[in-house]
Amino acid sequence: MAKNAIYNINCIEGFMRMCNDGWLQGWHERNGGNLTYRMKAEDIEACRPYFKEPGEWVNMGVQAENLAGEYFITTGSGKFFRNVEIRPCESFGIVEINEKGDSWRIVWGLEGAKPTSEFPSHFMNHSVRKAATNGANRVIYHLHATNVIALTYVLPLTDRAFSRALWQSATECPVVFPEGVGVVPWMVPGGADIAMATSELMKTYQAAIWAQHGLFASGPDFDITFGLAHTIEKSAEIYWKVLATGQPVLQTITDDALRAIAKDFGVQLNEAFLD
Ligand code: 13P
Ligand code: ZN
Repeated sequence: MAKNAIYNINCIEGFMRMCNDGWLQGWHERNGGNLTYRMKAEDIEACRPYFKEPGEWVNMGVQAENLAGEYFITTGSGKFFRNVEIRPCESFGIVEINEKGDSWRIVWGLEGAKPTSEFPSHFMNHSVRKAATNGANRVIYHLHATNVIALTYVLPLTDRAFSRALWQSATECPVVFPEGVGVVPWMVPGGADIAMATSELMKTYQAAIWAQHGLFASGPDFDITFGLAHTIEKSAEIYWKVLATGQPVLQTITDDALRAIAKDFGVQLNEAFLD
């Protein structure tokens, strides 16, 4: 893209590619879903020449001291993932966080727009994942993953039920998310309450499901985060394909088999979810 060299900077390129990949997967109808990335010092320096006069500080209704002074790339509220590549500076942008860790201001992009309505949830998830990973976590991704959402109508809304169903539906799952997944009951999206409920679960899990709404995934970079979301959604799709046959399930991955996978791959499975 020749428009402006900011689009050639690695973090911006990676962010746009992930938005487009999510769109192509069918997880982002209309303005569904949102993506945030906590920038590294070198990302900020590379993008700084393109920064504009900062906007007003806007309070978020949540606070995290460990994110004071950070910069995030974020999709815009009401913006379509489908349009990120053709209308980038209206669809996403960069925000700076103040020294109290409770407000953002726009420093680039988001022209005529503001950060995603789920910014409080992203922000609190960034805070707990940063703490849980010694600073390694950088990406929070919210997607309207069709098969995961559908499962929230038929499975009990417990971390255990979802973790077991997903682990048993694809052999790679216990390796990719050995701690399991968290489940948030249906709540009104876009505010501080759902942000606090989700981030409480993200202290334990890399991913949390919002009942009848979607999925939140986290990770150190775009590839790993997208891969986690893709793995969870694919496992849910397999679960549905099995259910849809109407056939009795003759065999699944047993708990002993899950333990054997964990041993060979050197991961610690969440024992609370095993029989
Ligand atoms: P935004 O358009 O504000 O990002 O909201 C989309 C969404 O998925 C809400 O949960
Ligand atoms: Zn949503």
